[in-house]
Amino acid sequence: MNNLEYKREFLKLKKEKNAVLLAHYYQIPEIQDMADYIGDSLGLAKTAVDIEADIIVFAGVHFMAETAKILNPGTKVLLPDLEAGCSLAASCPPVDFKKFKKLHPDHIVISYINCSAAIKTLSDVICTSGNAVQIVESFPKNQKIIFAPDKNLGGYINRFTGRNMVLWDGICEVHDILSTEMIIKLKIEHKDAKLIAHPECKAPVLELADFVGSTTGMLNFTKNDESKKYIVATETGIIHQMKKKSPNKEFIVVPSDETCSCNDCPYMKMNTLKKLYLCLKNETPEINLADDVINNALKPIEKMLDISMKHKLVK
Ligand code: 13P
Ligand code: SF4
Repeated sequence: MNNLEYKREFLKLKKEKNAVLLAHYYQIPEIQDMADYIGDSLGLAKTAVDIEADIIVFAGVHFMAETAKILNPGTKVLLPDLEAGCSLAASCPPVDFKKFKKLHPDHIVISYINCSAAIKTLSDVICTSGNAVQIVESFPKNQKIIFAPDKNLGGYINRFTGRNMVLWDGICEVHDILSTEMIIKLKIEHKDAKLIAHPECKAPVLELADFVGSTTGMLNFTKNDESKKYIVATETGIIHQMKKKSPNKEFIVVPSDETCSCNDCPYMKMNTLKKLYLCLKNETPEINLADDVINNALKPIEKMLDISMKHKLVK
């Protein structure tokens, strides 16, 4: 079958099996365009809570599909490729993190959603790039906090809020690789462009940015801002939505190295139309988690959703 046929067959099966397709912005454009819901980690998590379908096909990476399962344990959750992991989640092994926690017994743990279910069970509250500052700021200034696993996001929040959270030494290989040299070169070439960056980028990159935010935050910024050109320091997939929302604007991705003009997440890009079709046809690979993991990982995620909701009501 070719891609068009995989797409047609997938959509047919989706109807027959009462399935829903959730996709992250870093997926290939063809998958983004087929999705019932597309969003950042926060949006995807919120959406997963209320889904009433029999099957969720998750076009994203493993920790995202796990989060959907934790939030909606009664629904079968499929991930087209089980190898679609995340370098950031992998940089925080639970055994080592348990030891790290013991070194800081009077600290609470705030974990970025890009971590395994096992790390979530060791956390007091979860945050995403879309609400990290808000979650941290919901605690008193004198609260001692461990922030895991992304030291770039944690460092950004420390600078933004004037806190001194203890940071786990993890990074996302896709964002951490983006260099200030490359960005300065692009800024010189495109003097009329604004720089927008994901908070998983290194501190010097974030210092240069006109806007720092989640994928949804960046997308909304480019839609509502008056500029016509943007240098985008994140994964290439988001450009598809930016162009759809603002067809007359120009978007330049900060490349991961001199030899290419893109910055792809190798894990996000493991999902293909063929794998999407096969996983729904065979109903595998499925995300399965033990009940105690679901229960213990759910608490810090629910706490995050509670804090997000309270904030919305106050606004
Ligand atoms: P967002 O929640 O901002 O979409 O980020 C997810 C992610 O994996 C970034 O690398
Ligand atoms: Fe993980 Fe980085 Fe890929 Fe996001 S871009 S899924 S943080 S490896």
